Amino acid sequence: MKTTAIAPANIAFIKYWGKKDESLRLPLNDSISMNLSAATTMTTVEFNDELKHDHIVDDGRVFAKDEILRITMQMSRLRELTSIRGFARVSTKNSFPKGIGSASSASGFAALTLAFCLAAGIQISEKELTIFARLGSGSACRSIPDGFVHWVAADRSEDSYAYSLFPSTYWDLQDVLIIVNENRKKVATSEGMESVQTSEFIKTRVARIPQKVKEIIRAFNKKDFTLLGEIIEKECLSMHAVMLTQKPALLYWQPETLEVIKAVIELRAKGIEAYYTIDAGPNVHVICEKQYADKISEVVSKLSGVKQCIMNQAASGARIVDRHIF
Ligand code: PMV
Repeated sequence: MKTTAIAPANIAFIKYWGKKDESLRLPLNDSISMNLSAATTMTTVEFNDELKHDHIVDDGRVFAKDEILRITMQMSRLRELTSIRGFARVSTKNSFPKGIGSASSASGFAALTLAFCLAAGIQISEKELTIFARLGSGSACRSIPDGFVHWVAADRSEDSYAYSLFPSTYWDLQDVLIIVNENRKKVATSEGMESVQTSEFIKTRVARIPQKVKEIIRAFNKKDFTLLGEIIEKECLSMHAVMLTQKPALLYWQPETLEVIKAVIELRAKGIEAYYTIDAGPNVHVICEKQYADKISEVVSKLSGVKQCIMNQAASGARIVDRHIF
């Protein structure tokens, strides 16, 4: 059966950086994220008995070799986990530039996992789907459930899953995604995470995460945006402090990244409450409540290094749609 899924990218408020098991992609710590409404991947999967191997096309263009390899590995893994036989044709389309931090791998592997399992006619729970998606790309598990999502760290694969903490309608938060560079990053997250233990800060960071998780859930419960924003920024800086002190050091920021950070700090001083967070790339996510989103985008768009602002609200997770790419 031909099946198409759409999955959102997500932005982590509590970040995932580092694994305790490389092949199972078991994270060192819990993480919490928001699904993004305007940064999505659409993927169509169709099994065909005549195919001798999987065929993967990216909206008319062929993927890079390493991307194909990761996708076919995930399909082989899914075949093994579910005893599905046969090969499939897969086509995928992003609503945003690829390689902007982790966004495309999260939405990509979430959409692929859902479309693949349903195209094969498998009955599968949301929890299992998050576990399967995690094996393709860690952050992809957070793109399956609705809205604001908690990914639990654990020692066994079956215990490290993601679930919806709050639905997308719970809080009118906005993410103004500011693109300063559209190129694919030079150091992929999986490669960057491999040397996480070389940072002198990693142990302190991981030890403090449980407290941060409690605090952020408190901020959500009270809808205390100041508390939420302060945790988001502190968390971003904590992850980048680890990245910068790894060997080899990972510096994902560019001059334009700092320009945006400064603009956010200035906006805040003028009473426009906004907080920044950054993944493994130079682009900046500015988190705010709805009433400030247009103003932030207007101010930031005027900065010379800014190429594009993508306005996101909290979105539902991966879902099946009845239109197809092919
Ligand atoms: O899932 P990956 O391998 O793309 O890793 C994502 C890591 C960060 O984006 C840097 C942080 C996060 O939690 O999303």
